[in-house]
Amino acid sequence: MVKIAPSILASDFANFGAEIEAVEAQGADWIHVDVMDGHFVPNITFGPETCAAIRPHVKTLMDVHLMIAPVDPYIEAFAKAGADIITAHVEAGPHIHRTLQAIRAAGCRAGVALNPGTPAEAVRPVLDLVDLVCVMTVNPGFGGQSFIESCLPKISQLREWGGPGLHIEIDGGVGPKTAKPCVDAGADVLVAGSAVFKGGSVSNPSPYGENIRAIRTAIDTLAA
Ligand code: DX5
Ligand code: ZN
Repeated sequence: MVKIAPSILASDFANFGAEIEAVEAQGADWIHVDVMDGHFVPNITFGPETCAAIRPHVKTLMDVHLMIAPVDPYIEAFAKAGADIITAHVEAGPHIHRTLQAIRAAGCRAGVALNPGTPAEAVRPVLDLVDLVCVMTVNPGFGGQSFIESCLPKISQLREWGGPGLHIEIDGGVGPKTAKPCVDAGADVLVAGSAVFKGGSVSNPSPYGENIRAIRTAIDTLAA
């Protein structure tokens, strides 16, 4: 069963709690939380205090994607904020192995993300330390970018190496048109920001459900 993880990066920043409740009521499986530091990526979002504030509104699973460097000094804070999964970038520093150990030691599930320009081989030595690999299909930093197709072969490669128990999450430019090849290649978690939140709002949330169902329909077409 493929999971749809809406990114709150595409929601109303003044209304995260209500946005999360609305999108979960409309069928979201996980809530994807994009943390950016203006250093590892050229944009700034928010930190652990915001994660802690939104946590009571998340009934599903809080999937925290850290686009920050360094990572290690902040792991404890994001764990205390209630993250279920903490994902760090393999490009964020020289000690990804230590970082992933620290995430698990803090009581969270661990994820490793790789940028479009990073080969799948870069995360192979740490696959035994992770529950999830996040394959970026845009350069991280902004929502609403176009899906980079050349990332697709990495998905099947990682599925082969990681086996059926590894979550393979696709992040960036995912929508009804791009979901199908990702799932075909072996992805089981699809992050979608603009494709889920477009056209809706807290006071008019039904487009969120329609957008989620459009992605699911595209995936089901694959199985038919
Ligand atoms: C990009 C973020 C993504 C982004 C996805 O740096 O990691 O999670 O919000 O947004 P869309 O789905 O609009 O590409
Ligand atoms: Zn993300």
